[in-house]
Amino acid sequence: MQTSPRVTAVMVSSLDGAVVAGGAGSRGLSTPADRTLFRALRRSAGVVLVGAGTVRDEDYRGVRPRRPTPDDPEPGPPPPLAVVTGSADLDPGAALLTDTVTPPIVLTTGAAPARRREALQAAGADVVVLPDLAPATLLGELGRRGLHDVLCEGGPTLLGALVAADAVDELRLTLAPVLVGGPAGRIAAGPVAAEPPRGMRLAGHTADDDGTLLLHYVRA
Ligand SMILES: NC(=O)c1ccc[n+]([C@@H]2O[C@H](COP(=O)([O-])OP(=O)(O)OC[C@H]3O[C@@H](n4cnc5c(N)ncnc54)[C@H](OP(=O)(O)O)[C@@H]3O)[C@@H](O)[C@H]2O)c1
Repeated sequence: MQTSPRVTAVMVSSLDGAVVAGGAGSRGLSTPADRTLFRALRRSAGVVLVGAGTVRDEDYRGVRPRRPTPDDPEPGPPPPLAVVTGSADLDPGAALLTDTVTPPIVLTTGAAPARRREALQAAGADVVVLPDLAPATLLGELGRRGLHDVLCEGGPTLLGALVAADAVDELRLTLAPVLVGGPAGRIAAGPVAAEPPRGMRLAGHTADDDGTLLLHYVRA
């Protein structure tokens, strides 16, 4: 029996719940401890799942080769990036496609304009046309490819869909020691999740000297 992939979400939030700060998106919130965690999670992921809004806003780069470390002197290939997009509105000339060691997987539907899908395919993307972009469909496709450890890097729309589908197994939440105020959204947005809310258990936490709190929650 094929099991659904395990989903770990990694997000950073300000103390007052903002998911972005200034014009730098989540980078305006990230701290050294958060970046170290982010890199470590990428190292162990089977695939990185990310929404097109984040790719566009944060100008996502392609996948870099894994650097050897004392614990892992001969690292395997890095995990591919899988981008969820209903519109296929991604720049075929972006570093996501032009500067990468592994072509990105673009998860879209037949409703996306064919010329955009074809341009991404021509630029090297592995364009997958799915019947819909519901979490079960996305995760089913990744599982079918043997990609069972999914690291979701957001953004809020994609995470909101995963939360609503009760598909988040772990959350790595960084609380950055800043107050942002303003209209910024929170880490998950979109459809209302089932009642009662999904309970999560604190599996670990680390406080950095700069006041960053790294929280690790798993399904209760
Ligand atoms: N604080 C953090 O940890 C963090 C993490 C990531 C992102 N962010 C920030 O969040 C902002 C982007 O927010 P966002 O909500 O737009 O991000 P997003 O979830 O990455 O992107 C939303 C877009 O992704 C596609 N998409 C995602 N899930 C979908 C689904 N289930 N069905 C169909 N399409 C889906 C759609 O693309 P199309 O429009 O192409 O159809 C949608 O417009 C940026 O400012 C970024 O910096 C913050």
